[in-house]
Amino acid sequence: MLLVGGQGTRLRPLTINTPKPMLPVAGVPFTVHQITRARDAGVTRIVLATSYKAEVFREFIDDADLGIEVVIATEDEPLGTGGAIRHALPHLDSGPDDPVLVFNGDVLSGVDIDGLVRHHRDTGSDVTLYLTPVDDPRAYGLVPTDQSGRVTAFLEKPKTAEEIVTHNINAGCYVFTRRVIDRIPAGRPVSVERETFPGLLAEGALVTGVVDSGYWLDLGTPLAFVQGSCDLVLGSAPSPAVPSVGDFLTLSGAQIASDAQVHGGTVVGRDSVIGAGAIVNGAVVFDGARIADGAHVENSIVGVGAVIGVGSVVRGAVIGDGAVIGRGNELLDGARVWPGAQIADGSIRFSSDA
Ligand code: GDD
Ligand code: MG
Repeated sequence: MLLVGGQGTRLRPLTINTPKPMLPVAGVPFTVHQITRARDAGVTRIVLATSYKAEVFREFIDDADLGIEVVIATEDEPLGTGGAIRHALPHLDSGPDDPVLVFNGDVLSGVDIDGLVRHHRDTGSDVTLYLTPVDDPRAYGLVPTDQSGRVTAFLEKPKTAEEIVTHNINAGCYVFTRRVIDRIPAGRPVSVERETFPGLLAEGALVTGVVDSGYWLDLGTPLAFVQGSCDLVLGSAPSPAVPSVGDFLTLSGAQIASDAQVHGGTVVGRDSVIGAGAIVNGAVVFDGARIADGAHVENSIVGVGAVIGVGSVVRGAVIGDGAVIGRGNELLDGARVWPGAQIADGSIRFSSDA
């Protein structure tokens, strides 16, 4: 199961029209990287648990040939992570003692999927969680374990310093024994992190963790989204679905001026144009966008058909689909421009000499 029903709020405005897992990352919708990794690990059937913008997934899956059966389950109202898993249950054809893999739909990782399932079977766990160490765990679910690897608590998004009892976090991939899913209440929102896992621990279920310190990234924020895309292009993040690994990736019909500098794992989308002398470093340029002469785009996302004017600087920003940034603007650290917005020439400048 792939949980792909969230609203992707932190990636607005990109997620206004496109759900987060369908945003293009290194040339294909993000979800394709996860689906093909699961396929290559031996998974033969995937249930996409959708809610927000479910039709976008349906249209894509109808036409895609991913070499694996993909079934779509859609919640009428978002049911949360646990509710989504329970809602998708009738689409499983596994037996009650079979392992079911569940992935958050926005995580890029090199986890050994097969190894996780093996661990689950070998330990006879009710649930096995993939854990990863991070420097700052506050935005995640904290998962302390004892010496045997048994999970002792699950602390989702801790608020106080005392709650930071480990740096190992829930990396967003689980193996459930199917009968555990049968017991998640149906027909109402359930958070697997705040309700199901703490409940299982309270009743003494065997929940184990597998710590893996390989590549891991949650693409939920603009900077992480850009980083994930660049890491895939540069080859430092694993995926069978990257068209070609290199310093940058150009998709069909893209035009790059001969003296433009494009690097850092940048993706230049289909039919996009990069003008003379432009510098594009570590960026995601969606299809049909135009970066004019002498513009400088770094660590940013440029939406479908958006225009960055002559000499403008865009760094650490998100430019919505169809937005037009006039010449000589500076959009820095965290700036977000809504789809279709127009910014007049020279009207936004942040530099100290402005
Ligand atoms: N179908 C469905 N329905 N999917 C949902 C729903 C829903 O109502 N709500 C969220 N999802 C999906 C999202 O699309 C995403 O793929 C996944 O569930 C997790 O939601 P996020 O919104 O990305 O959660 P998070 O990043 O804040 O935290 C989660 O992931 C962290 C690791 O990246 C938690 O699982 C944390 O414990 C974990 O550390
Ligand atoms: Mg997330």
